[in-house]
Amino acid sequence: MRTSSYLTSVLSLTLLVSSQAYAGNDQADSVKRGKYVMDIGGCVSCHTDKKYKGKELAGGLGLPTPFGTFYTPNITSDKEFGIGSWDTEQFIQAMTKGVSPDGSHYFPAFPYTSYAKMTRQDLVDLKAYLDTVPPVAKAAPEHDVPFPFNVREGMMVWKALFFDDSPFKQDPSKSAEWNRGAYLVNGPSHCVECHSPRNLLGGLDTENLLAGEPKSPEGEKIPSLLNSDESKFSKWSHTDTVFGLQMGMTPEGDFLGGSMGKVIANTTGKMTEADLKAIAAYLGKPDNKKTATNEPGQDKSGS
Ligand code: HEC
Ligand code: HEC
Repeated sequence: MRTSSYLTSVLSLTLLVSSQAYAGNDQADSVKRGKYVMDIGGCVSCHTDKKYKGKELAGGLGLPTPFGTFYTPNITSDKEFGIGSWDTEQFIQAMTKGVSPDGSHYFPAFPYTSYAKMTRQDLVDLKAYLDTVPPVAKAAPEHDVPFPFNVREGMMVWKALFFDDSPFKQDPSKSAEWNRGAYLVNGPSHCVECHSPRNLLGGLDTENLLAGEPKSPEGEKIPSLLNSDESKFSKWSHTDTVFGLQMGMTPEGDFLGGSMGKVIANTTGKMTEADLKAIAAYLGKPDNKKTATNEPGQDKSGS
């Protein structure tokens, strides 16, 4: 009797200790993965205002749109001014449904339209990381958006028309690499949000995804990423794409700037080579013989 209860307590103690150690590792892994999810999601590009020496993720950056200027909120772990008091489910709801913990609708200047495609695991990890971001006790400015576009209820109608919150679907006829690229481009890395034309109400033109946007709200000319005769990009090899997204230099010898400069600094420049190759595979550029065997950049040496 005594032996068996002794055994039971040793056993349960062992189980307890090892499960706690496991939980600890698990949490640390989740935070580490979450940092990478933040990078591929480009949160820093919008939620950090470098101009005013803003702290990372403390918000305050103005985003001009045809409807007015939106200011990004503080998403540090501050419990009052940031999202430190949110639980993981509230965070996932904001990211995938565009709905805040108090039930109001977000404006699509926050690209939840793409983040809705993110996997639950990625979002859980991202929240674990955000919980470790030092709190900044600072409120972001109010949006400067005139009536009627400032009415959050109006977003219900907008969402019904333009928001597809279905999860990302793998295409089993394609490789795992291609599917990873499709996930990044349409999900966390939200390349579609800038590289596609929009209709008058700011909805993505889903028939022409990645066809480019001749005049963005910032007044930029955003090139097509489709394989068409007119696009410069369709002449890029996979190696050119990986190198361009890593270093910001095009095979024509130009440097990518404007808002793409931020994407390279905060997103693609921080991606693993495997993820960059996945994007190149998904964007489907013909991999010609000259560059296929080269390492990124080697085909720039004048041969
Ligand atoms: C293109 C710019 C942009 C990017 C990129 C972006 N956000 Fe935002 N985000 C916004 C804007 C604008 C709002 C405010 C929306 C509103 O008020 O309706 C917002 C709101 C939020 C909110 C709601 C905060 C609150 O207080 O209610 C969360 C959470 C959030 N973003 C998280 C993220 C995360 C995490 C990432 C990266 C994966 C990210 N955002 C990337 C622009 C962006
Ligand atoms: C915030 C808006 C924005 C986002 C998000 C964005 N881009 Fe861009 N991208 C641009 C702009 C603007 C340019 C043009 C830059 C220039 O000409 O200096 C550009 C240029 C490019 C080019 C060069 C194409 C050419 O023909 O020269 C490639 C390739 C590219 N982007 C890929 C991507 C990929 C892949 C993603 C997602 C990981 C992405 N972009 C996300 C705005 C964006």
